[in-house]
Amino acid sequence: MRSLIDIKDLTTEEIDNLIKRAIDIINHKEQYAHVCDGKKIATLFYEPSTRTRLSFTSAMLELGGTVIGFSDASSSSVAKGESVADTCKTVSNFADIIAMRHPKDGSALSGSFATDIPLINAGDGVHCHPTQTLTDLLTIYREKGRLDNLTIGMCGDLKYGRTVHSLTMAMSRYKNIKLVLISPEELRMPSHVIHDIIKKHKMPYKEVTTLEGNLKDLDILYMTRIQRERFFDPKEYERLKDSYILTVDKLKEAKSDMCILHPLPRVNEIETAVDKDPRAAYFRQTLNGKYIRMALILQLLEWAKQKAKRDYYYDGTKARYDLVCKNPRCISSIEQGHKHIFVPTSKKGIWKCVYCEMEVDLRKKNQNKKRA
Ligand code: NCD
Repeated sequence: MRSLIDIKDLTTEEIDNLIKRAIDIINHKEQYAHVCDGKKIATLFYEPSTRTRLSFTSAMLELGGTVIGFSDASSSSVAKGESVADTCKTVSNFADIIAMRHPKDGSALSGSFATDIPLINAGDGVHCHPTQTLTDLLTIYREKGRLDNLTIGMCGDLKYGRTVHSLTMAMSRYKNIKLVLISPEELRMPSHVIHDIIKKHKMPYKEVTTLEGNLKDLDILYMTRIQRERFFDPKEYERLKDSYILTVDKLKEAKSDMCILHPLPRVNEIETAVDKDPRAAYFRQTLNGKYIRMALILQLLEWAKQKAKRDYYYDGTKARYDLVCKNPRCISSIEQGHKHIFVPTSKKGIWKCVYCEMEVDLRKKNQNKKRA
């Protein structure tokens, strides 16, 4: 069964085909109005969402299907302590496909292990958010006419913002992509993204701390919100929350055709006056989210019908099972019943948990070893 847990689950050709299909849907909406008649999507949202949940809902309705699910986990058996795996297993009796958002890293992979219907990761903790990335790719393609030869600035909370992790992964597939990573020291891009994506794919990049002086070469500026809910210390959030505010004045430095993206919701990081600038593409981006999710639902249901074999994004042959994940945000260290799975990274001696991708350095003695 093929699911979408991480953007790595899709080949570049498959991504390009989803974009083509989304554009076909935009141009021939009526031809798609009944392609999912009789099909149900379950939207299991354990975390707040406006765009992602409602775009999945309207995507399925516009394909002719129906929607079940919850948008508040306190109204489901989760409140009684049910695991993600048990909830997903149960729901697979009632729906044809699941879209799930959950606060713990690796929850989507965990849920997909328990179901025999496709599961779409609609955001798992700070880990990744592949359908936002598909939305971003469709938007970049529609706004700029290409996915190659781009200088992309990512600004804000690069540590906890799951969208930028998935977007970096996706952009590593395309030619001549340069990255400018703009964040406070405390919220820099995680090392697994720097090592295993940016350096591994030899993407030119620089890490800087200010918007000012770093806008002029950008083709895309991807703004993100500081992720308040991920901070263990609220004082730290208060200190960092207004690190970046994009204003009309700051934009004078940018190219006249630079495209401004934001996965939304926005808090303070883009002043509302910027919305009138034709370069501001973030509300168009939201609409693209519906079309790409229509294409994705169709594709996953087609693969399910063909009984397409799941192609894990990690290499099971090289996995080891004798380590435990110590990431307090990882589903494998929170819910019982998980087999801990670690795979090698491109850096010798560094392994990572397949659920949350937290790295462990095995060159240091006794790291993460299970007790005998
Ligand atoms: C993002 C998310 O949930 O990660 N929102 C979204 O899905 N459009 C970004 C965010 O919450 O900051």
